[in-house]
Amino acid sequence: SNQLEKAIEAFRRGIPVLIYDEAGRENEIDYVIHASMVTTERIYEMRTLAGGLICYAMPQPAGRIVGLRYGYEIISTIPELAPLASKTLGYGDKPAFSLWVNSIRVKTGIRDSDRATTIRELDKVLTMIIHGNTREARNYFQSNFVAPGHVPILLGRRLNERKGHTELSLHLAILAGMTPSTVIVEMLSKGDALSIEDARRVSREKGYPLIEGNEIIDRVEKLGEDL
Ligand code: 5RP
Ligand code: CA
Ligand code: ZN
Repeated sequence: SNQLEKAIEAFRRGIPVLIYDEAGRENEIDYVIHASMVTTERIYEMRTLAGGLICYAMPQPAGRIVGLRYGYEIISTIPELAPLASKTLGYGDKPAFSLWVNSIRVKTGIRDSDRATTIRELDKVLTMIIHGNTREARNYFQSNFVAPGHVPILLGRRLNERKGHTELSLHLAILAGMTPSTVIVEMLSKGDALSIEDARRVSREKGYPLIEGNEIIDRVEKLGEDL
């Protein structure tokens, strides 16, 4: 669609894209940007305009290369905690959460500039992985990050396995010809998720394209570009 083209073009230029998953899933809209484009100002906008949890996303196979596992895998190795990891919330998807990290170069980890630093450092690791520099990526990850920290890492699956904002954002990056390395945050309102009507208004006022997950899914299917 024309709206998808606009979103892809905006995303490439570092403009946030708003992605609505679907009524039968979370029924939420995430603010999405490529990780390489993140600045301190963008983090400030993410927590003031969007308001949800600011997460970094990369594909699961990339995460595996530096040793990342899903949080539920790690938790399930501790017998007393295992029951927590075997449950899921109403909409059924296994959570995409892996570890939470900070760059060693931050002050406390939470400040806008701190989270921008951690995210740009994670993007650096992803670039090394994509270029096949496995050893360099592992070394860099081990020496330049601490866990737990203030930036949750999400591991994306193939779109035919899971259709969350994690996967939708990573595939938007792929459609834009960029690395699968994104930052996503839920759009919230007082007490609830932001409604689609309010998201349309934000989209208009800010010039941030609003698209539906299905537009990304259809395009990826057509091009055969699943992760
Ligand atoms: C982390 C979340 C959000 O829903 C986020 O949109 C990513 O998750 P998902 O891929 O499940 O949509 O759980 O804040
Ligand atoms: Ca979720
Ligand atoms: Zn989501």
